[in-house]
Parts: sequence; C-alpha cells; structure tokens
Amino acid sequence: MPIALITGASQGLGRAVSHALAQRGWSLVVDARHGGELASATQGLADVTVIPGDVTDPDHRARLTEAVGRSRRLDALINNASTLGVSPLPQLADYSLEALRNVYETNVIAPLALFQLLAEPLTEAGGTVVNVSSDAAVEAYPGWGGYGSAKAGLDQLTAVMAAEEPRLRCYAFDPGDMRTQMHQLAFPGEDISDRPEPHTVVPALLRLLFERPPSGRYRASDLAAGKLAAVAR
Ligand SMILES: NC(=O)c1ccc[n+]([C@@H]2O[C@H](COP(=O)([O-])OP(=O)(O)OC[C@H]3O[C@@H](n4cnc5c(N)ncnc54)[C@H](OP(=O)(O)O)[C@@H]3O)[C@@H](O)[C@H]2O)c1
Repeated sequence: MPIALITGASQGLGRAVSHALAQRGWSLVVDARHGGELASATQGLADVTVIPGDVTDPDHRARLTEAVGRSRRLDALINNASTLGVSPLPQLADYSLEALRNVYETNVIAPLALFQLLAEPLTEAGGTVVNVSSDAAVEAYPGWGGYGSAKAGLDQLTAVMAAEEPRLRCYAFDPGDMRTQMHQLAFPGEDISDRPEPHTVVPALLRLLFERPPSGRYRASDLAAGKLAAVAR
C-alpha cells in the first residue's frame, strides 16, 4: 500500500487530496494545527494517522517522521500547509519582519526540513515530493511580496532538489485560485464564490503522482488541459 505524508489536511486542497488518495487505497500521515478540525476532516478514511501540530515546530516534524518511519518507505511527501501571512496583505515597505519570518518558516523552511528528515524513506520508495506553490511565486502582485517571495524560494528549493535527487520526482505545483480560507484571507470581505473548489484541482495533482512526468514546476491548469511539460516559471 503506498504511503503519503500530507501537511495541512484539515481543509482546502490538503483535505481534498487526502480524501482522493485514501479512496485510492493509500495509507496517510496527515497534520494541521487544529486537531479537532483535522479529526473531523479525516473521519471515515480507512488508513490515516492523524498528528496535530505546527509544521514550524521541530518536535512536531519529528513525530511526523516517526509515524512515517514505521513504514520505512514514503511514496509521496506533499508539502501543502502554508500561511498567507498578514491579512490584509501589506506592502513590503510596511511588512513586519517578524511576520515575514513566520511566513518563511512555514512556507520554505518547514517543507525543506520535512524533506531532509524523510529523504531516506522517499529514496527507498523512489518517491515524489510535491511542494505546493502559487502564481504569486512568479508574478509581482502588489501586497504579495511576503508570501510570493516565500513561494519563489520554495520553487527554487524544489528545482535544486530535483537536480540533486535524480531517483525522486520533485514538483512545484501551482494549483491556481481556489475557494478556501486562505484565499478569503487574501481578499477579505470580497465574494470569492466564483473561484473553483479545491477538489477540482486534485486530478491535476494526481497526474503528478501517478504519471510521474519529469521533475519541474507544473500548473494545475496546464495539467488539466493535458499538458505534461513543466513550465519554466
Ligand atoms: N487557495 C488558493 O487560491 C491558493 C492559490 C495558490 C496556492 N495555494 C496554495 O495551496 C495550498 C493549500 O492552500 P489552501 O487554500 O487549501 O489553504 P487552507 O484552506 O487555508 O488550508 C490550509 C491548511 O494548512 C493547515 N496549516 C496552516 N498552517 C499550518 C502549519 N503551520 N502547520 C500545520 N498545518 C498548517 C491548515 O490547518 P490549521 O489552520 O489547523 O493548521 C489547513 O489544514 C497552500 O500551499 C497554498 O499556499 C492556494
């Protein structure tokens, strides 16, 4: 039975991917900070280990690693948990450096730390790393400098990881806009009901896991349109 670690599985994209993989018989290790929401989100899934905690906490990351370690192999590490940072989004001139550090800790350092802890079982499985990115990594939207620069950093980590780890597949995956709590925080007070639900993006992510195109940066919209070539930016 393949096994995946999915961070941020209590809602949004992480929840949708967890359900899709569980339905396909995958064994899962999942987290999110709020244990109650995480337990409800994963209720009824067949083989799921629920470990509440914060990905920026080294002790929590050790617990995730320990849970995976019992299987000795990891088919997929899906670094999905992320923070937008301050809402409403501040201009860089006004960005609190303490808040920015937290954005980087969550969106860049934690995904790398998990990769470092899990490189061995990932290699054992010839596994896949999916680092969930954003168009804000490559577009210069005013207000998005904190989150966007963190996702740009994550993209570059993923690209170098791919160059260093030829036995793995390493993807930066840009899901596009989704109707989630994070998206609402980015557009406070706005009606976001025209944005697609997160489950609509899942088939694109599954293509990466099951078809395993070359490592690189992929947009969900391209994958949904049948393109399996990585995008340069
Ligand atoms: N929504 C969009 O339009 C959009 C667009 C481009 C990219 N993305 C990316 O897509 C991914 C999923 O976003 P989403 O919109 O689905 O987000 P979401 O609905 O806000 O869900 C985020 C999930 O991550 C968890 N989480 C947040 N911080 C965490 C931490 N420090 N440690 C552990 N878990 C944490 C949350 O649970 P807790 O709060 O309980 O921790 C929740 O389960 C993110 O990487 C995001 O950057 C989203």
